[in-house]
Parts: sequence; C-alpha cells; structure tokens
Amino acid sequence: ADELEVKWLGTPIKELKRMPECGSVLPPLRDVPGEHTVMIRTDLLRRGRVPVPYPAQFKDTWDDVHVKMPCSSSNLFPVLDEVTHGLQNKSRWELIKETLNKTFLSQPELKEAILKYSASQAKKWDFTALRLYCTKVLEPDAAEHLFDSLLPDMVQLALRASELCTKPIPLLKGGMNHSITMSQEQVACLLANAFFCTFPRRNSRRNEYCNYPDINFFRLFEGSSQMKIEKLKTLMCYFKSFTEQKPTGLVTFTRKSLDKPLNWTSSQTQLTKLHITCEGTIEDDGHGMLQVDFANQFVGGGVTGSGLVQEEIRFLINPELIISRLFTEALDPNECLIIKGTQQYSKYTGYSHTYQWGGSHRDTTPRDGWQRRCTEIVAIDALQFKNFLEQFNPDKLNRELNKAYCGFARPEERSQNLAAVATGNWGCGVFGGDARLKALLQMLAAAEAGRDVAYFTFGDSQLMTDVHKMHSFLTQRKVCVGEVYDLLGKYHSSVCKSCPSRRPDVSLYSFIYQQVGSSPAPDDSTRRHVPG
Ligand code: AR6
Repeated sequence: ADELEVKWLGTPIKELKRMPECGSVLPPLRDVPGEHTVMIRTDLLRRGRVPVPYPAQFKDTWDDVHVKMPCSSSNLFPVLDEVTHGLQNKSRWELIKETLNKTFLSQPELKEAILKYSASQAKKWDFTALRLYCTKVLEPDAAEHLFDSLLPDMVQLALRASELCTKPIPLLKGGMNHSITMSQEQVACLLANAFFCTFPRRNSRRNEYCNYPDINFFRLFEGSSQMKIEKLKTLMCYFKSFTEQKPTGLVTFTRKSLDKPLNWTSSQTQLTKLHITCEGTIEDDGHGMLQVDFANQFVGGGVTGSGLVQEEIRFLINPELIISRLFTEALDPNECLIIKGTQQYSKYTGYSHTYQWGGSHRDTTPRDGWQRRCTEIVAIDALQFKNFLEQFNPDKLNRELNKAYCGFARPEERSQNLAAVATGNWGCGVFGGDARLKALLQMLAAAEAGRDVAYFTFGDSQLMTDVHKMHSFLTQRKVCVGEVYDLLGKYHSSVCKSCPSRRPDVSLYSFIYQQVGSSPAPDDSTRRHVPG
C-alpha cells in the first residue's frame, strides 16, 4: 500500500542545486551600451534603499528602437481648432496629468478619465469587470479605500514616469541579445501607466506594435467573468503592497537567442539527475531553481486578457513580469526571455476557471549582489499542436529542443554554478503536446545545458512513474543525448510517418524500451551506437 503513496521519485530534491547557494560571484553591475541597459545609479545601489534613477533628467526619445513613453513631448493628439477648423496637436501627457489628477470617486469616473485621453477606438472598451469589482466585490469600506487612497497613490506613481524612468527603454526586438535592469519602483511606475492605459500606440495591434504583446490593461476591465475579478484582486494586491511598502530591489530582463542550433545527433552527453514529483508547483518547490514559464511567443500570453493558466498565473502573482510585455517583441523559435529578480506578491488557489486570489504573500527570497530576488524565470514558448503526430516530426523536435536549450543553457557559467531546472508539462496543456515526449526533450536540453531537472507533474502520478522509469533506464544503460535523439528520429520514421490513425499504435516509450533493449549491453568505456 505504501507504494501507492509515492509522491516523488529519483534524486531527492535537496540534492539539486539552488540559487543563491550554487551561484558564482556576480560581476559589478554596469551599463554596457548595446548589451545591457541599466536604468539606475549603480554607484548608489545599497541593500534596503530605493535605487536612484539614471540619468537625473528625463531623456525624451521617440523612435522605433525604444519604448514610446506616455510622458514624451512627442506624445501628441490632434484637436480640432474651433476658430481655424484645422487640426492642432496637443500634448497627450498634459491631458493625462490633468485628467488623472482630478479625484475620481467611483468606477464610472475612473472610466471617463481613462477614455478622455485614449484614442477613439477606446470608446468601445467595456469596463464591466472593473465596475463589478468596485461595486459587488469590494466591501463598502474597501471600495472607499480604493478611491480615497489606493487609486490616488497609483495615479501619483504613474505620473512620476518622467522622474523615475529617465533612460530610454530599448525595445527587445527579434534576434537581439540584450538585458534591461530597472528598479522595482521603475517597474511599478510603468505598470501603473499600463493600468491607466497611457502607453501610446498600444491600444490596437494593427500598427507598429503588432508584433508585441498588449500592455495597456483595458482588456482586464472587460466582461463579467469571475476570472477577471480574481485577476483584478491579484493585481490590486500588488499595487496595494507596493504603495504600502516600496520594494528596494532590481529586476533584469534578458532576451537571448541561440546563434546556431545544436547538433543533437552527435552529442555524447549523459543525462543529468532527475527529481520527479506529482505534488507541488514550480514556483513553490522550485525556489532558487531556473523556473520555466510555459510561455506564449507573446510573453505573458493572455494575462491582461482572458487567459489564466500557468504563464498567466505566474505573471499575476509576480506582476513585475508583466512589464516585459512593454518591450519584448514576439519570441522567435530560437529565443527566450530570462527574468531575474521578480517578487511574489500574492498567493492563489485553483487553476484556470477555479483560480482564486489567495491573499497577499510576503516574499522572503534572498537578494543577490545586484539586489535582485534570487528568482529566475525563463519564458520559453512551446509549439501548439492540433494533430498529435505532428510533434514527432524531426523539424518540430529540433525546434522544441533548441527552444528549451536556449532557455536552459548559460555558456558563460560553469555547470557546477547552475541551479536545476524546475519544470513540468511544458506545452502539454493549452498547447496540446505529449507530456512523455516533452519530458524527454526537456531532459535532453537540460543535460546538454549541464543542469539537473526537478519535474512537477501537477498531480499526474502515472506520468511521474513513467518518466522516472524511462530516465532510470536511459541512465543505467548510459544512453547519451545523441542516442536518445536518434531514437526519436527513428520513432518518427518507423512509427509516426506511416501511421494511418491520429494516434501511433506503439507509444514512444515502449518503442525506446524495445529498441534499446534489443541492442547490445552497455559498455562503460565507449559510446554505444543504436543500430539503424
Ligand atoms: N507548476 C507545475 N506545473 C504546472 C503549473 C505549476 N504552477 N501550472 C500548470 N502546470 P499550460 P502550455 C502544468 O497549459 O500547454 C498560456 O496561455 C499542468 O499540467 O499553461 O505550454 C500561455 O500564454 C498544465 O496542464 O501550458 C500560452 O499561450 C501544464 O503544466 C499557453 O498557455 C501546461 O500548462 C501555453 O500552453
């Protein structure tokens, strides 16, 4: 009976490496043009002190390689001159300041304010969720606090944009390898602007930002679903925590691409350690590890709209992640986004339709030498599969392997300094992938990157058993990455390619057991080649 109670298999989780214990010493933080944009005074960075923005004065930039800021003097809107009947350009930021600085006492007034400085397409925005939140969800005194205190604080935070975010924020475009480091206060200021929907050119995806995620929060306010209400509760908890106690750390966003795809077939790397469990989550039990975000190519997916699965939940409980949407162009197949230093502000229960905000969370994660929380999250977007067999095509296998490898590999670090990867059913929920294949692909990518794996099956104990058994089998027989890769190719050509039905008649794992089982016994000194 005890065996039925097994909750984890493989290497005990305490034997896997975590940050900050396993990490190497950080080099001094500095701005490197073309490589790393640092938005604060590095010389004044001190533990427990709010970082000082750099430069001292707002540098007003309005071009296609930087974020167009709401406070830019080029942020204009046309008004009809009553006398000349010609169009005249007025400063939109002046209008925003004027509008938001007036106190609004109710949800309709807040809505009117937002619509006042938003372009004409905004007139069809729906604020039902926001109305329900203010009138039906909040107790009267909480609603009063919202309009008397929290919203005015958020307005003041948003209006400090030109004082706090003085350095132009580069757009992280496709193919760029670039980092942006900013303070949690700067992130909050930008998020407050997103809440009030002030970012110019970002209300329609039919323009210059068509390849970027949405950042203005208007879709968050729309509709009457309970999910939107729970999202609002979670985000308002963030703003409330921030205004009550200003966090003093930094956050780094790094866009990274793999310059050349790996030659998987020739890899003689052995698999690394695996801890696999059907209990727990990436964010709770994977603290200090490299935590995988099961991302959309538009990072954050539906966080400001209707999505509410792994990625969106993570972005809600660690809202600083959301600001990546302001500057991160859609990820290419060979790219990832790495986010270090975000803080968790909320707890939650449930998932998707049953998601509920679970109150505020006090994050006690230690900070690194750059005053970032030791929380590293990597956004990697899996492919979406409508047809089960498609994912076994060699080009799809390569794409997923290289995507995961891009996310996991840190060629500049030594393997001994790398924390384990905390992951799970990447691409296997909304995106319809096969968890047994994806687990194997992620183990190959992690091995190649020199990292161990903590795998969370999210309640699936059969998956835990199956993946553990496969991992033990491959490691005992010393089947290396290249050999597993070749077996995947062989599985495709001999089982999937000619398969008449929608599902293969031989599963991937039984195929591997059969192929490896019938080949000669392992020899410790040489690489064994799989016949075929
Ligand atoms: N820890 C561990 N495993 C989890 C967790 C967690 N916190 N949450 C969920 N799982 P899904 P995808 C497991 O569907 O298929 C978003 O909209 C659970 O078994 O979020 O890659 C993105 O923006 C779940 O079924 O990821 C993309 O658009 C599985 O992980 C899209 O979804 C997959 O979670 C990505 O879909």
